[in-house]
Amino acid sequence: MNETPSWDANDLDVETPNAARMYDYYLGGSHNFASDREAAARAVQVTPTMIPGARANRAFLQRAVRFCLDAGIRQFLDLGSGIPTVGHVHEIAHAIDPSTRVAYVDIEPIAVAHTRRMLSDTSAVTVTQADLQDPQEVLKSPGVADLLDFSEPAAVLAVAVLHFVPDSKNPAGMLDAYCDAVAPGSFLAVSHITDHYDTPERVAEIDRLYSSTTNAARHRTFEDFTRLIGDRELVDPGAVYATDWRPDPGTVPAEGARTAFWAALAHIS
Ligand SMILES: C[S@@+](CC[C@H](N)C(=O)[O-])C[C@H]1O[C@@H](n2cnc3c(N)ncnc32)[C@H](O)[C@@H]1O
Repeated sequence: MNETPSWDANDLDVETPNAARMYDYYLGGSHNFASDREAAARAVQVTPTMIPGARANRAFLQRAVRFCLDAGIRQFLDLGSGIPTVGHVHEIAHAIDPSTRVAYVDIEPIAVAHTRRMLSDTSAVTVTQADLQDPQEVLKSPGVADLLDFSEPAAVLAVAVLHFVPDSKNPAGMLDAYCDAVAPGSFLAVSHITDHYDTPERVAEIDRLYSSTTNAARHRTFEDFTRLIGDRELVDPGAVYATDWRPDPGTVPAEGARTAFWAALAHIS
């Protein structure tokens, strides 16, 4: 693990709400500030699907990671990894194989600082502060390039992050660049907020709310979501609501969770 840097909350903008910390709030974490909690509470008022949806997304991430591990994957590139609350990628992976390598990448300084702090005794995990919209920079950063062996299959995770990437940044092309970098036999896991709210006004309201945070978000249609994945072959059951992606037997989605996120796991050949 990289050396823990000194960081000081005084250096950080904690007045402007931030998506990583709002998501931490939805998941029940404690790495958030008053501004994040206020914005998150407003979002929950607009759509009560926010909290169960975030948790369903996190559960999808965990199932996708387990699927990849079962398929023999032992290295993960987690783009937009967020704050490592319970059940993060390395925890799932290391419960199965402690030698699994995980390269976390996030743009948000607090998410990165907490990740470093919480994982300082784990040499198989790195965290890099970087903008995933610049694949070449991410791929050559030491936290990624020195940890992962791209001649072996890997899983590229872009979970609950692509809605922060505007069309002007060509998110599909960006994913192509990551997929081109990894060996055949790799996987690409993606999820994205849906536009399936009960009224279009609520979609616009959430867009407006996130515009006032450090991470403007956009809703995409199902067709736009599948365009991001391109023509890659999908693992069954394909692109579906996150709750419907290979649910653990006997589990029932929490009320409001189902329509919040789309998800898919693709083969990279
Ligand atoms: C909603 S969280 C998702 C966390 C985790 N992937 C999950 O699904 O549980 C989105 C994360 O993406 C990060 N993010 C947003 N834009 C980014 C960018 N351009 N580059 C890297 N990370 C970004 C945010 O800081 C935040 O931590």
